[in-house]
Amino acid sequence: MAAILNLDTFQVWWLILCMAYMMLNLQVRVHGQMGETNSYPTSFLTNYASGSDGQHFRVLNNGQQAQLILDEYSASGFGSKYKYLFGKIGIRMKLVPGDSAGTVTAYYMMSQTARHDEMDFEFLGNVSGQPYQLQTNIFAGGKGEREQRIFLWFDPTADFHEYSVLWNKRQIVFYVDDTPIRVFKNNKQSLGMDYPDSQPVGIYSTIWNGENWATNDGWVKLNWTHAPFVATYEKFNVDACLVVNGNTAPCIQAAQNNWWEQSAYQTLGVHEVDQLNWVRKYYLVYNYCTDRGRNPTPPAECALNVL
Ligand SMILES: *[C@@H]1O[C@H](CO)[C@@H](O)[C@H](O)[C@H]1NC(C)=O
Repeated sequence: MAAILNLDTFQVWWLILCMAYMMLNLQVRVHGQMGETNSYPTSFLTNYASGSDGQHFRVLNNGQQAQLILDEYSASGFGSKYKYLFGKIGIRMKLVPGDSAGTVTAYYMMSQTARHDEMDFEFLGNVSGQPYQLQTNIFAGGKGEREQRIFLWFDPTADFHEYSVLWNKRQIVFYVDDTPIRVFKNNKQSLGMDYPDSQPVGIYSTIWNGENWATNDGWVKLNWTHAPFVATYEKFNVDACLVVNGNTAPCIQAAQNNWWEQSAYQTLGVHEVDQLNWVRKYYLVYNYCTDRGRNPTPPAECALNVL
């Protein structure tokens, strides 16, 4: 081949090297899409900080990944350095593997006021081989008690998956990767109900001992001989409106220009409606709307938070 193309040895080696490099690159890219090799350049430290000590919090790979560690000495957590109002806020997580019964790994957005707003993902661990439950909840103006729980359609300890919230003036949509699992509409006008539309929120994640309620309603306790319990995170960029010096006006008034307020994001798309129905049909474990013990008549918003 070298003779035909009239290349000298150096050129041949160079060609082989380049081809190997290209193939390697291709593989990395394909892997990246599979969610195995991370390619999220934003460092943990750009947007987040942790007050936990080195035994309970670790930054890995130049800040591209971070870990929270729960053991018998301490729970653990991190939070955003800044506050946000509206946007698409998410992170990629790989949950505690093996026996995670009794652990709760929470990822949430919350304002710090007396009548606070909050959007929660809470992952309830389980004994080895048994499925996690994902509980979501929404607080508006200090009122919560809107729990829903689902099983996931994959093992959340095997790979990273993105858990995110699309949050605009019309609706809040909880996503697992690209699948909507829950919708909460702005029912301010129709029902006079509070909706998170004015309070800036911080973004937090914590891991803690929830053995009194988490696994099979508290019947399965946390087993410390299996500690430490480690959750891993990546993708630390935040696509949301930054509130500077507590001034929310730019996020509220100028919001119409932001992508998450555009008409495509004001309701679910046709495909998303199918996805949400699929989740509700096959993966829903608990829904406050249908818990007659707790709510003899379903809360008014339930009928409106359909799609
Ligand atoms: C744990 O596993 C049991 C048995 O499969 C299941 O009933 C339960 O819903 C699972 N999740 C939690 C959080 O208890």
